[in-house]
Amino acid sequence: MAKHPLSRRRFIQLGSGAIAATTVAKNILQPHLLSASPRPVAPSDTVRFASIGTGIRGCEHLQASLLVPGIQCVGVCDLYDSRHTAAQEAVKNPSVPATRDYRSILDRKDVDAVIIATMDHNHRHIFEDAVAAGKDVYCEKPMSHTVEDGFSMVDAAQKNKRMVAVGSQRVSSILYAKAKEIYDSGKLGDVFCINAYWDRNSPSGAWVYPIPPDASEKTIDWNAFLGNAPKHPFDPVRFFRWRCFTDYGEGLGGDLFVHLLSGIHFISSTNQPALRAVSSGGLFHFKDGREFPDLIETMYDYPNFRVTLRCNLNNAGGEFIAFYGNKGTLIIKDSTLTYKPENVRPEPEGYSVFGWPKALRDQYYKQWEDEHPEPKPLDWKSDEDGESYGVPSGYSDTADHQANFFNAVRTRKPVVENEGFGNNTSIGCHLANFAYFNKSVAVWDGNSKKIVKG
Ligand SMILES: NC(=O)c1ccc[n+]([C@@H]2O[C@H](COP(=O)([O-])OP(=O)(O)OC[C@H]3O[C@@H](n4cnc5c(N)ncnc54)[C@H](O)[C@@H]3O)[C@@H](O)[C@H]2O)c1
Repeated sequence: MAKHPLSRRRFIQLGSGAIAATTVAKNILQPHLLSASPRPVAPSDTVRFASIGTGIRGCEHLQASLLVPGIQCVGVCDLYDSRHTAAQEAVKNPSVPATRDYRSILDRKDVDAVIIATMDHNHRHIFEDAVAAGKDVYCEKPMSHTVEDGFSMVDAAQKNKRMVAVGSQRVSSILYAKAKEIYDSGKLGDVFCINAYWDRNSPSGAWVYPIPPDASEKTIDWNAFLGNAPKHPFDPVRFFRWRCFTDYGEGLGGDLFVHLLSGIHFISSTNQPALRAVSSGGLFHFKDGREFPDLIETMYDYPNFRVTLRCNLNNAGGEFIAFYGNKGTLIIKDSTLTYKPENVRPEPEGYSVFGWPKALRDQYYKQWEDEHPEPKPLDWKSDEDGESYGVPSGYSDTADHQANFFNAVRTRKPVVENEGFGNNTSIGCHLANFAYFNKSVAVWDGNSKKIVKG
């Protein structure tokens, strides 16, 4: 902390920054969603898609699809019959064909693309069957349930020359686009430290979802749900709260870390997984038979920066990502983005010299002022200090993410969050869980495409 008495000019210098720091301009960003189609979409350009998996996320997708021009939902597929009705309601079309059998969707010639929003362990086989059938694929995050799944999916997509989008929709958000613009402008200086968290404090936030009263082996195709997972007798808790179980999900890593990592990779243009990770955490409160912790904290090493992530299901801290640079700080908190510059102008040292006798200290200050020209006023305009951005009410980054995908289907130009991007961020989740469950450093071995103990 500077203790030296402020000269008039230093007061002006610091004062203008202090005043500016309290002035926060809030800009509402303009959506570019409907730029998904850079021109009006002719009916002949309509992309016909089907949704495989129409639970919570699948229904969100169907609702969001109504905002995207030039697309039409022509089929829905789910293993639980009530979700056929839910899907038809979500897409506002009670007569859209519904089936339990995703292969019958892939056999249809009038389906150009599919959205896969099933439990994570079923992504791979549906994805691989879909690309082999010539469909482009929007696959929900995390792309992979295991490291091996991810590389197999990347190979399948590339072999079949299919367009793929992975579903961390923040990558298409106007807020994240603004964050990337600021990051790329150099206004943050060097960023070596990135910190993010996503904390929730409710049973729903911890996936304690109610079991619908009609759930039974008659209304749910249990064997198809299990897919390649180990056999298990019918258990609606495992079906509806699958995120709690290692056979089907990846806990907080796959549910929330992947969004944070996708945002970080997108903003920093990172195109590789972390080099290594260490995790800590525990299952402290939701001791309901689940296999994943309700608190996990992971530190990742990337070549040029370090990342720390946390998810805590016992405090409602919300969603937060911060990039700490030596010229400024960028923070995304829920749906607001702020950028604050650092005051990096030269200043006389003002701490250790208080251990000097006054005469020497005065001499030091005089010499410093002689050697440094009168500082210019801060070059931050008050409305630039603490830039702040939000999104308009009702903004849907899911619709924007879909729009980017369906545009790629039309143009054959890949989206940012393609299969390679999705594989890298999924590996980040697997690193976190490997480190947590093995109580060891998790090292990414890119040559063997495996995680190994460090
Ligand atoms: N991007 C996001 O913000 C976001 C939000 C929520 C969930 N998700 C992801 O979406 C996916 C689905 O999550 P959810 O919350 O909707 O789960 P959910 O349990 O509500 O729905 C999953 C549905 O998939 C169906 N399904 C599973 N295997 C199937 C198969 N072989 N054929 C047809 N249907 C099948 C199930 O019957 C179930 O209804 C997960 O990968 C999850 O991580 C993403």
